[in-house]
Amino acid sequence: MDYKAALAELLSNTGVEKEEIEGYITKTLELSNGDYTLPCFKLSKKFRKAPAMIAEDLKSAAEANLPAWIERVDAVNGYLNFYLNRGEFIKNVVTSPYPTHGKNGKNICIDYSSVNIAKPFHIGHLLTTVIGGSLYRIFDYLGYNVVGINHLGDYGTQFGKLITAYLKWGNGEEQTMDSLLKLYVKFHDEAEKDESLNDEARMWFKKIEDEDETAVAIFNTFKETTLREVDKVYKRLDITFDSYNGESFYNDKMDEIVDMLKQKNLLVESEGAYVVEMGEDIPPCLILKSDGASLYATRDLAAALYRKRTYDFDKNLYVVAYQQNLHFKQVFKVLELMGFDWHKDCVHVPFGMVSLENCTLSTRHGKVVFLRDVLDTAVKKTLDIINTKNPNLEGKEKVAEDVGVGAVIFGALSTGRIKDMVFSYDKALNFDGETGPYLQYTHARCCSLLEKGNYDSDKAVDFSQLTSDVCYSIIKHIDAFDATVVDAGEKYEPSIISRYLIDLAQLFNKFYFDCRVITDDEAATTARLKITAMVRDVLKKGMSLILLKAPEKM
Ligand code: ARG
Repeated sequence: MDYKAALAELLSNTGVEKEEIEGYITKTLELSNGDYTLPCFKLSKKFRKAPAMIAEDLKSAAEANLPAWIERVDAVNGYLNFYLNRGEFIKNVVTSPYPTHGKNGKNICIDYSSVNIAKPFHIGHLLTTVIGGSLYRIFDYLGYNVVGINHLGDYGTQFGKLITAYLKWGNGEEQTMDSLLKLYVKFHDEAEKDESLNDEARMWFKKIEDEDETAVAIFNTFKETTLREVDKVYKRLDITFDSYNGESFYNDKMDEIVDMLKQKNLLVESEGAYVVEMGEDIPPCLILKSDGASLYATRDLAAALYRKRTYDFDKNLYVVAYQQNLHFKQVFKVLELMGFDWHKDCVHVPFGMVSLENCTLSTRHGKVVFLRDVLDTAVKKTLDIINTKNPNLEGKEKVAEDVGVGAVIFGALSTGRIKDMVFSYDKALNFDGETGPYLQYTHARCCSLLEKGNYDSDKAVDFSQLTSDVCYSIIKHIDAFDATVVDAGEKYEPSIISRYLIDLAQLFNKFYFDCRVITDDEAATTARLKITAMVRDVLKKGMSLILLKAPEKM
């Protein structure tokens, strides 16, 4: 039920437009002020009266035909407070906790994680990977047909260098991410002494471009090695992609873009290179270098057009760090200049930087923090905690994996995405803090209560048992679940769901410590188990939207 609209309707005979009143009504923060409130000062101009008097007048108007779902209205300090009938409200929510969105027939592309071949999958990729993975699930929940795209960084002169190094020093050895990284470093060291290596690298790069069989075969081994490695991490994070079309996929699709730009007189020569000018406030977008080579932006233009044609997207998201703000501004602007009205459906979803607490490693020194190692460390620390707190836990390795990985994911998704963050294992693994493990622990607590109380979902519930402030608060919060997910989707902000879940877990734990769930009173127990089951379900559903597993025992 849309309460704001219904409340506005109730006051519609007072001379104010229904829509206007609806816009002013807000949810209250404190139960002591009712459930909804209308700040009457917003209407004082219209009525030419003091807010307190308006509130009194509207109160009388509302009371003249108060429907059963409202308990009472109060005029306090110029506010009109509405108290819902708790029993009625609870019945509605218990009967249908949150709606299911049918398929809406819309397609959404989400470009995320987008790793670079032969480069380490490091902590810098954590945010794009989990924000994108979470948005994938959020839009799936909302009824979209989601296309997850890993726009692989698989094109560039560095691959010519890598083939050169591989043939000289790496052939025959087992290929791993570490060995590729070492080859790359070695190439640069050696090339400083021997300039001819660079010529060789250019030759191999040219061969890749010409699709020379040997070059492509070697390059493909780099790709396989990288994907094998990142797939292990994707599995642990439970993330999937529908397409791995990377930059090289667009090799043969850029001529069309260049032709279109020429036709529309958008391509301008500048010092031998070709650019698109885009007005005062944005620097020109480089399309072709003076040697005719294409650029990152050229590939993204081809990719956007390809995505529009292939998926006919309603929205086309790019979950990429804010360092690329200018890049996406330029790409979207070029699309606009080209006359594609769907440029407005392309959205850059930027995010801040992650660093590790107490970690001084820097990429400049050739040392990086591998994402795999971060997950391993978190899992190991979790296992240590389990071994002290609950050493006999069945399947504790699996639980440690779910909780350790979950702690890292939640750490990344718990703050607004645009903020830079410092990741701390201790904070992320604090079972009593605002963390992933705290959510999982609360979920497991619900599961064990339900098991202990022999919860039977078919048993009739006496709703009057649930009208206390704490129960009612929980039920109101459960009722807000769907709107929360909608909001998170609209803002491309998984942290809204993280916040929601922490609040739910805190409310539930307050309930758990205030009232005993399982008592001698049969009716009370049945009702409290019902709330417990609803919290369990919403926690589990919400956690899955932010990529968290929900073990039943911890
Ligand atoms: N591989 C790029 C990087 O690591 C990110 C690619 C993002 N996606 C895109 N369509 N440009 O910076």
